[in-house]
Amino acid sequence: MYICPICRKKLKKLDKVWHCQNGHSFDIARKGYVNLLTTKKRNPGKSGDNPEMVKARTMFLDKGYYLSLAQEVRNTARKITSEIDDPVIIDSGCGEGYYTCVTSKIEKASIYGIDISKYAIDHCMSRVHLNGIKNCEFAVASSFELPFRDRFADLIISIFAPVSNDEYARVLKKGGKLIVVSPSPKHLIELKSILYVEPYENKPNIYGLNKFDLLRESFLEYRCQLSSNEDILHLFSMTPYYYKTPADGVKKLEELNSLQVTFGFSIRIYEKKFD
Ligand SMILES: C[S@@+](CC[C@H](N)C(=O)[O-])C[C@H]1O[C@@H](n2cnc3c(N)ncnc32)[C@H](O)[C@@H]1O
Ligand SMILES: [Zn+2]
Repeated sequence: MYICPICRKKLKKLDKVWHCQNGHSFDIARKGYVNLLTTKKRNPGKSGDNPEMVKARTMFLDKGYYLSLAQEVRNTARKITSEIDDPVIIDSGCGEGYYTCVTSKIEKASIYGIDISKYAIDHCMSRVHLNGIKNCEFAVASSFELPFRDRFADLIISIFAPVSNDEYARVLKKGGKLIVVSPSPKHLIELKSILYVEPYENKPNIYGLNKFDLLRESFLEYRCQLSSNEDILHLFSMTPYYYKTPADGVKKLEELNSLQVTFGFSIRIYEKKFD
């Protein structure tokens, strides 16, 4: 299923190494994943989430705040693939594997998670081992250079992650579907009211997916009480505001022990237009 990131030929697995016919090889890490980023792409400044971000997201997600979203994505994916015998699903920009593992409950599905952060993928492996999950494979790779052959997958899922029009269209089968989850206008509005004097609602993300038709968009919105400072700060470190909030805003958050927040998600389903 994997292709060589250097010459794009098929990779074959021999013992603990993936090889292509041109002599390029990629070792399988001790935990069981493969790093398919070419050396020039392994740029420390552009290598996705760092260990602290992965840890904060894991601790937050494991409290179950986004379980409703994970279940909604899984149910949508199950419906989309219900007529397919052995569906292939890719979780692109899968982070530390929270949604990948929930999606793995789809009967007979093979799930492939990729992320550009090796720390995130390392964590995915711990998650599948811990939960005895057998139908997920993980690789370190970029959404903009997917390590899969043409027309490999029935469905690609992208949750709060970068989206590639060309690569997703290349890797999906004819009629393949794409689920894209992004923040709704009101997502985290209360958190933003603490950080900024004039909090703005989120604008819809424009992905330029001209090789796809939008079939439908739905919204999932609910409010939750965060009842510890730890949860508030973990959530904050998962957001883009973490990098651009003035010090006085951060200080206010550090002094807070409870916060009611709106979690809001846009869930869009697209279909590949051409073959
Ligand atoms: C906000 S996180 C979302 C992770 C996961 N989908 C979730 O919702 O928990 C964005 C993820 O995209 C990854 N990422 C960033 N650029 C990427 C790229 N070019 N290709 C693949 N993953 C990328 C980051 O490492 C990070 O894990
Ligand atoms: Zn090669």
